[in-house]
Amino acid sequence: MVRRVGLSTGGGDAPGLNAVIRAFVKVAVGVHGLEVIGIEDGLAGLVGTPRIQPLSFREVRGLLPRGGTILGTTNRGNPFRFPVRDATGSVSEVDVSSQVVESAKSLGLEGVVMLGGDGTLDIGRRLMDLGLPIIGVPKTIDNDLSATDATFGFDTAVGIAAEALDRLHTTAESHDRVMLLELMGRNAGFIALNAGLAGGADFIVLPEIPYDLEAILACIERRRTSGSHFAIGVVAEGAVSKHGELSLLGDAAPGGNARLHGAAAKLEAELSRAGCPLEIRTTVLGHIQRGGTPSPADRILATRFGVEAANLAARGDWGKVVRLRTPDIEAVPLADALHTHRVDPEGQLIRQAEALGISFGR
Ligand code: F6P
Repeated sequence: MVRRVGLSTGGGDAPGLNAVIRAFVKVAVGVHGLEVIGIEDGLAGLVGTPRIQPLSFREVRGLLPRGGTILGTTNRGNPFRFPVRDATGSVSEVDVSSQVVESAKSLGLEGVVMLGGDGTLDIGRRLMDLGLPIIGVPKTIDNDLSATDATFGFDTAVGIAAEALDRLHTTAESHDRVMLLELMGRNAGFIALNAGLAGGADFIVLPEIPYDLEAILACIERRRTSGSHFAIGVVAEGAVSKHGELSLLGDAAPGGNARLHGAAAKLEAELSRAGCPLEIRTTVLGHIQRGGTPSPADRILATRFGVEAANLAARGDWGKVVRLRTPDIEAVPLADALHTHRVDPEGQLIRQAEALGISFGR
């Protein structure tokens, strides 16, 4: 009998998900003779009537450069707190995890390969405890999973943000303005730090280094006195001032997290109030960072993760997560791969940036 495995993409999408799907299917089907069933919209496709698609060579043709995920995804699909709407229209969180496990079993799935960030991988760990074998593939543009040297999607996001900074430079210079660019990353500043370095930012504010407004004003003033009448500032969406709080867009929706938004607008208002001598404009790059084709580096990393995940599934080596330990892809126990990390405020990258004159508002 042909062995059958499930494949799902959970959480926010990241460029490279389709490249993982393609590589996984090519090796699982082509090399190991497994049958692969794609589950739609994270694990939501296993709640109620299953929403699935068999995946073979035809379905994955042309996927390498394609952004997004052909399986669909959601960051409101946690089966342990699944949002369900009642007859009155109000939404509450319900535990549908046993339904997911039963549904996977009735489809004849030996296990499910889950592509996702820390939240998705933690769901995978809990489903393993309920008897559903899981293999994890780490994914997030935020690059905040400590188990792996890198996640795919990050390189693409940094590239898009760096290009945006190049574009902001020319208009900032023409108008003698301070340009603020708000970037994603949740509570980690890796995208902001790396994009800021690649894009020649003058100051970068990170969640890991609460900023002092005076230090940013001093940075702008230093540039003015040295003859540069404009400045480029990168603001991580999770940035906070020394005395401030996270900038959130409303409360968390059922089954999800509160959205981070507005840190740059807040900094713009603070700088203006404090008498910043230059005009300020704010751009929020938003989901443009997650859209479109993956960079070559992300295509390669995603492909390597997909190949390794397929080899694990073929060996029946469930309960593992693939990761990059440069230069190799290896597998570690799922339980060891759930931790997030953040930018080290005393790390070499920060120190080197400061040596260049970049201010972190401290
Ligand atoms: O985790 C990836 C990420 O893009 C974060 O950087 C960002 O805060 C969040 O997802 C945005 O989520 P959503 O797509 O729900 O707006």
